[in-house]
Amino acid sequence: MDLAVLEEEVRNYDLSTAEGRASFRQRFLRKGGILDRLLSELPTLPLEERRLRGQRLNALRQLAQQRLAQAESHSSSPSLSPLAFADLTFPLVGLQPGARHPLSLIEQRVLTLFQRLGYTLADGPEIEDDWHNFTALNFEPDHPARDMQDTFFIDPSQGKLLRTHTSTVQIRVMERQAPPLRILAPGRVYRHETISARAHVYFHQIEGLCVDEGISAADLRATLEYFLTQFFGSGTRLRWRASYFPFTEMSAEVDIACRICQGKGCPVCKFTGWVEVLGCGMVDPNVLAACGIDPDRYTGFAFGLGVERLAQLFFQIPDLRLFSENNYRFLQSFATYAHLA
Ligand code: PHE
Repeated sequence: MDLAVLEEEVRNYDLSTAEGRASFRQRFLRKGGILDRLLSELPTLPLEERRLRGQRLNALRQLAQQRLAQAESHSSSPSLSPLAFADLTFPLVGLQPGARHPLSLIEQRVLTLFQRLGYTLADGPEIEDDWHNFTALNFEPDHPARDMQDTFFIDPSQGKLLRTHTSTVQIRVMERQAPPLRILAPGRVYRHETISARAHVYFHQIEGLCVDEGISAADLRATLEYFLTQFFGSGTRLRWRASYFPFTEMSAEVDIACRICQGKGCPVCKFTGWVEVLGCGMVDPNVLAACGIDPDRYTGFAFGLGVERLAQLFFQIPDLRLFSENNYRFLQSFATYAHLA
């Protein structure tokens, strides 16, 4: 049999259909098929011819196997590919992408702004002891904030409680690290309050602490004014008020002109036109000393930002409870703010 004719046939066989491939396999590759038969006839030939024809037959079998394998891999991919069925213009009705929680967006924004000033992150536990929540922070033994009215005690006999502020992390950092210090500590805090549009039993704070030689109230003021104008915009009206905290001396609070009613008066600002967003002050020397830092050498400032307050003013949300109710439509409306963080 003329092998050139056979090779023509192998090369041109139509392998585009499953039937074509089956008959090809039958004809060329089956045991006892045409190639097999020709190979088995080889021993009857003269030596020289046997060698040449043997090589050509083997090459032909390889070619047939290759063509078949190739045709099969091509034929399977388009029919299994999902793209073959997909209508790429079809609207994705079932897809509900998540969104960052508004408090998480605000927190991230605050952290980013302070990171530019060289602040790093610190952390502490939500279940605290009396020392870190009160005593080291210079609270007198009978200070009203220690009262059951404000604090959730877990085990009063052991002094275990849910921290009422993130100022606990100031103590934890100063106990561990020597100045210079510049840290930010975001986290959840707990207070025994009646839940309303303005108050909740838990909320979030971001604590800031800066301790070094020669830190003054001017540094405190410049830092917080930089932050607040970056956060709310340069035209924002601020109000500094003298205040009192056991762990700072001097102490102040900062209010922002209410952005919900534009200062006209509403329930969020208690009809005053101003909303408190942070407490701050110069770290009391007693607090530095309680943490083993020399108050004659070092000074510092601290501040505590209310994350819910910032979010409420930033997004103009009248009721704090929305932040913890996990209402799907409320949360979904923040998908467009992903760029903030
Ligand atoms: N810990 C205070 C509060 O919860 C806020 C604060 C932090 C005040 C740091 C001064 C310095 O109200």
